[in-house]
Amino acid sequence: RHAGLQPYFEAHELLKKFYHHLLVNTKDGQEALEYLLARGFTRESIDTFQIGYALDSWDFVTEFLQKRGFKAEEMEKAGLIIKREKDGTYFDRFRNRIMFPLFDQNGKAIAFSGRALGKEDVKYLNSPETPIFNKGKILYNFHLAKPVIRRQHHAILFEGFADAIAAYRAGVENGIATMGTSLTQDHISLIRRNAQSVTICYDSDNAGIEAAFRAAGMLAEAGIEIRVALMPDGLDPDDYIRKYGPEKFRNDILGASLTLMSFKFHYYRRGKNLQNEGDRLSYIEKIVSEISGLEKAVEKDHYLRQLAAEFSLSLEALKQQMAADAPKKG
Ligand code: CTP
Ligand code: MN
Ligand code: MN
Ligand code: MN
Ligand code: MN
Repeated sequence: RHAGLQPYFEAHELLKKFYHHLLVNTKDGQEALEYLLARGFTRESIDTFQIGYALDSWDFVTEFLQKRGFKAEEMEKAGLIIKREKDGTYFDRFRNRIMFPLFDQNGKAIAFSGRALGKEDVKYLNSPETPIFNKGKILYNFHLAKPVIRRQHHAILFEGFADAIAAYRAGVENGIATMGTSLTQDHISLIRRNAQSVTICYDSDNAGIEAAFRAAGMLAEAGIEIRVALMPDGLDPDDYIRKYGPEKFRNDILGASLTLMSFKFHYYRRGKNLQNEGDRLSYIEKIVSEISGLEKAVEKDHYLRQLAAEFSLSLEALKQQMAADAPKKG
């Protein structure tokens, strides 16, 4: 590693410890701590994930870093402080936020995501791209989950890190999360090097289901076996675990995850009224086209039969439809 990056790592390590101290030991951090505990974070998970609190101050970190000999220009590049255009002075990027350190594969803190305590405009404020942090290359909790993923050949992929933390509390230790970005090819190769299969467990709201559909396509393309876990009522995994508990999450959600094709059945059905002839036909057409993309003849047969049975169609008609479809795809 380039020696010039040392101050970047050191500043993150120092601040990570200090933010954590403020959260768990000080009066200033009390409100933030109460917020986390009320949300179901345990003391143990606050320690494990080194969660902290950034003071409600414009210059605390700026001075903290300067006093310890860090160069302001470097700390700006590290994303920790911001330069004022008008007079060239600096101020703290993260103020009055719950601080989640983001770690690299070796467990070194390389960035932060700061959550507002209430309902502020910006719910999560993240470090920008820096010489040591590239959002598209980092999966939250990968450093802790990696040995478990390698042992099980399996990972659970979440949309938010609150979900990965809640799952960890629920005994699911192979959970990883993207952080507000869609899945990148770098994420995928990281996953593929360590797991054969992935359960996608994104939020069950519209945005989450759309993102799950895209992620599933990309992961399947990379040869990773996919399952998709869905939750009721638009909940996210963290919400679900709080409402129904760890056991139901493991058994009824992860344990009942769908195959990729069953998820696609569900996906194409959303917002459609299958009693309506037009909706029904366009749904059947979508599914037939998905089935025709399957590699295994046995799978094709299985899903065609399922579709035929559900809509009282003849298997013959579906096979003809599929044959008519094929040339169009080139
Ligand atoms: N995100 C972000 N900025 C936002 C909203 C979301 O960077 N303004 C990212 C965060 O990494 C977050 C993820 O997208 O973890 C998923 O977003 P969302 O589902 O809205 O957040 P939750 O993880 O559910 O967070 P919380 O439970 O704290 O509301
Ligand atoms: Mn979401
Ligand atoms: Mn969410
Ligand atoms: Mn939310
Ligand atoms: Mn949430």
